[in-house]
Amino acid sequence: FFANVEQVPGDPILGLTEAYNADARPNKVNLGVGIYYDENGRIPLLRAVYQIEQQLALDAKPRGYLPIDGLAAYDQATQKLLFGEQSPLLEAGRVSTSQTIGGSGALRVGADLLIKLLDTRTVAISNPSWENHRAVFGAAGFDVVDYTYFDAARHGLDFEGMLADLRKLERGSVVLLHACCHNPTGADLTQEQWRVVAELLKERGLFPFVDIAYQGFDKGIEEDAYAIRLLAGMDMDFVVASSYSKSFSLYGERVGALSVVSADAKQAKAVQSQVKRIIRTIYSSPSTHGAALVAGVLNSPELRQTWEQELTEMRERIHALRAGLVGKLNALGAGDFSFIERQAGMFSYSGLSRAQVDRLRDEFAIYAVGTGRICVAALSQKNLDYVANAVATVARG
Ligand code: LMR
Repeated sequence: FFANVEQVPGDPILGLTEAYNADARPNKVNLGVGIYYDENGRIPLLRAVYQIEQQLALDAKPRGYLPIDGLAAYDQATQKLLFGEQSPLLEAGRVSTSQTIGGSGALRVGADLLIKLLDTRTVAISNPSWENHRAVFGAAGFDVVDYTYFDAARHGLDFEGMLADLRKLERGSVVLLHACCHNPTGADLTQEQWRVVAELLKERGLFPFVDIAYQGFDKGIEEDAYAIRLLAGMDMDFVVASSYSKSFSLYGERVGALSVVSADAKQAKAVQSQVKRIIRTIYSSPSTHGAALVAGVLNSPELRQTWEQELTEMRERIHALRAGLVGKLNALGAGDFSFIERQAGMFSYSGLSRAQVDRLRDEFAIYAVGTGRICVAALSQKNLDYVANAVATVARG
């Protein structure tokens, strides 16, 4: 049956981790996948998560099935985090939120929903975008097109190009937007630019699909949700795929959510019934543990404060690592890398070519995505010198 099966290439991000794990060199560094590591090179177990886990273990519950759309306390806490505690949309019942298997699950369920309910097959994603966006929407049946986003020469956003391409889209097309900490470039829109884009989307009847996987990693929880709050105030329908993988350091628990904004509570209920049907036919219902942890932390004033503090620590440490890398590259005369400090979130689009990325891996055992994306959150004071020296070597040619 499988005699003629073709081998497909490994995943451009997770495939790197496989290669990294198989690499026997002791000085290896994985700057590929988007994971936050602490100073000791470990994925942190957040204090707030540890505490709620202890509490839950003391009061261990049987593991029945969750509802198809997940743990209600989790869904509600997620809505508040995304739309704001006092959101009139939540008050009006216009948002339906479903716990999903990670942010990727939210993207796929959202894509399945929109291909079924909307009168379009087109989704526009930024060029470049997260490596998996094209595949996820393609698998759901969308034709995926690009909109201009990044100006490689200036290492920043090409806003005029973005607007020009969005204007060319057919009415009703879906537009995928990164709410903050753009993956892979780290180039975000200013609030003023968001307002222009939101107006354009509304005026041209485009449907926003917001992906927010790094809330709290640039400026803060509230500030990083600006795009969502803005769209919420514009009387538009849209969807949001969100993730707690990074903000709670709960990667393997696969804690994500899909939130759909409809015109009124009646529509929201109907849409939710469609979401549930889709989930039921893929994985039936999500899992219990991660959602219980997140809901437990967000719904406890004390643990929430601890979590916010820890998120702030992670954010500030990433800012310091950016500054540290730029300082060292400067001192080594590697060229102008000051743009790394202007980029937001976990990633930097380093400007390194594929050949330079290959050299980093082959000569230094440093793994980065082929596009030149590096995960700044995988740097530490321990590997910073090593990485800076290697980058300077390959940058000089
Ligand atoms: C990344 O971009 O590295 C992360 O979102 C992890 C993943 O699944 O690709």
